Amino acid sequence: MNKGIIGLGTSLPSRRVTNEDLASTLDTSDEWIRTRTGIGARRIASDDIDVTDLATEAARNALEDAGLTAEDIGLIVVGTATGRAFPSTACVVQQKLGALNATAFDISAACSGFIFALQTARSMMDSMDKRYALVIGAEKMSSIVDWSDRSTAILFGDGAGAVVLGETKIEGLNAFELGTDGRGSALLFKELDGPIEMNGREVFKFAVRKLPEIVEKVVEKAGDTLADVDLLIPHQANLRIIDAARERLGIPEEKVIVTIDEHANTSAASIPLALQEARSQGRLRYGTKVVLAGFGAGLTWGASHITWTQGEEQA
Ligand code: COA
Repeated sequence: MNKGIIGLGTSLPSRRVTNEDLASTLDTSDEWIRTRTGIGARRIASDDIDVTDLATEAARNALEDAGLTAEDIGLIVVGTATGRAFPSTACVVQQKLGALNATAFDISAACSGFIFALQTARSMMDSMDKRYALVIGAEKMSSIVDWSDRSTAILFGDGAGAVVLGETKIEGLNAFELGTDGRGSALLFKELDGPIEMNGREVFKFAVRKLPEIVEKVVEKAGDTLADVDLLIPHQANLRIIDAARERLGIPEEKVIVTIDEHANTSAASIPLALQEARSQGRLRYGTKVVLAGFGAGLTWGASHITWTQGEEQA
């Protein structure tokens, strides 16, 4: 049975924190942050909002977009690095939504979490005979950042994005390419009670190498060509990483969705948030071919070749 995305929703905290705001407490500048990362601002959630609130709001919006109710959902998979150890973010989202017919659990794959969750949900829909699934990427990165460390604090933001998967006329989730390399586990990590720690240069080098590699692989797996891909939606960690990958792949700038200037790095939420941006720009139509590609701590990486299955079929 063909499956695809039939609903999309997001959640962004209202508080926008600019580089200048950060420069008032950190030894940094708007100029440094923009030129090194492409980031101009990020959304930061207030203390009374946690990652389950962001995830739930995104999920509600995706359900409304799909025209479904919470009881219709058979599976909830959340990619997150900022939930509690237990219960899972997905179980709390299940409760908040009242999605009592769902099986709910989290995926730990850091910034690749949304792609891992998408592939997991797609496979489980078949193996468990589930009609509808919610796939969520949600993060409150501000809760795990050391706000006195200028090398990491400037990079991250909060937010969530969710998609509803359901039966579609044509297949919407054409191919996946997922992988991990635990030898890089010391490059980007968080101890249980500590903040994010990172070897920025090494992560940068890994990302610049891995991003084009997985895009090429997933396009080949889907039996497609790079020239026929309409949009590339990369994980938003650093504009220089995105530009380097794009140049290596020979993809024109207008085919790449960039949200890092306003969202910064929202980890597992960045790809569904960028999907929403693509849709609001009118770039997602029925049949649009999109490659989603992420990378992150683990090290982990994941790409998905999708066909957009919402909207009017073109004659
Ligand atoms: N403001 C001003 N100066 C800063 C700064 C900041 N926010 N952060 C670091 N610096 C300084 C450093 O202290 C260093 O100073 P020094 O030369 O006197 O020692 C200088 O800027 C250069 O630091 P460096 O770490 O070499 O910069 P960079 O060009 O590698 O950029 C990152 C740093 C973090 C932006 C970049 O390495 C990066 O984006 N890496 C990937 C990180 C990532 O994507 N992580 C998430 C993956 S999912």
